[in-house]
Amino acid sequence: MTVYALENSNGIAAGIARGIGDKLVQLEYKIFPDGESYVRVPQKPEGVAILVASLYPNPDKRIFELLMSVEAIKALSSEPLIAVVPYMAYARQDKRFLEGEPISIRVILKSLETLGLDGLVVVDIHKPSVLSEYTSIPSRNVFIDRLIAEYFHPKMRNSVVLAPDVGAIERAKRVAAHLDAEYDYLVKERDRVTGEVKAMPKNLTVEERTVLIVDDIISTGGTMALAARTVLSQGAEKVYAACTHAVMVRGALDLLISSGISEVAATDTVPSPVSKISVVPAAVEELRSLLEELL
Ligand code: R5P
Repeated sequence: MTVYALENSNGIAAGIARGIGDKLVQLEYKIFPDGESYVRVPQKPEGVAILVASLYPNPDKRIFELLMSVEAIKALSSEPLIAVVPYMAYARQDKRFLEGEPISIRVILKSLETLGLDGLVVVDIHKPSVLSEYTSIPSRNVFIDRLIAEYFHPKMRNSVVLAPDVGAIERAKRVAAHLDAEYDYLVKERDRVTGEVKAMPKNLTVEERTVLIVDDIISTGGTMALAARTVLSQGAEKVYAACTHAVMVRGALDLLISSGISEVAATDTVPSPVSKISVVPAAVEELRSLLEELL
């Protein structure tokens, strides 16, 4: 097998190549004077090709590099090609929230399928069902719940795991199961007098408890900051925040820390100061399982 690294795989391509014992090839890039991207696959794959590409920062450029690389590798070899996409950009636009909007993640998945991609590994994609709804490419979604639980386990005393909204409850439930802790989700309420928005736990009390809030993405940090401020105002002893993809735009980390969060930890799907947990071993495991299915 040959593992290809697209720009900015954040060391994950190297980790995967080490994990499956195969050689790593860096793709070649340049930008044309008019701003167009160029990629070149410098050598043919030996057997199955594995292309590792994290789609942040510069998601639009990265997506196009990914599509061009798939096209190029498929032209070089008739062996299967698997893409490992640790951070799948546009995954949150998974339906038409307003009439006239595109389902952006469908555009990416359909494009990959049209180009002949044979297998896809993603990490904690926003809504896993898109992988079967919008494509028939055989795929795996790497769950990171055990990794998050193991990281925070030593800090958890009388703890509760919270999802920032009901849509994220399954992730909180899975992390809580690994920690043997209770879990709940937050419900937004607006004070009719002051207009202040709070995110209250639906069922549990957080007083004098250690709270771990888990989400798939921290982007501006607004969701986590609101959740942290609310549970601290309700007497939580300590608040930790965990996410899979630390997109962290516009001073998000400062916002989180100033909201009273003691520590933020994320996986390394996106490079950031809080990307402390490696997804490589879990990604290699899922990749092996997909290879068994395909070969
Ligand atoms: C939303 O659907 C996601 O799961 C995250 O809750 C969201 O992306 C967080 O964004 P922000 O950090 O900007 O509040």
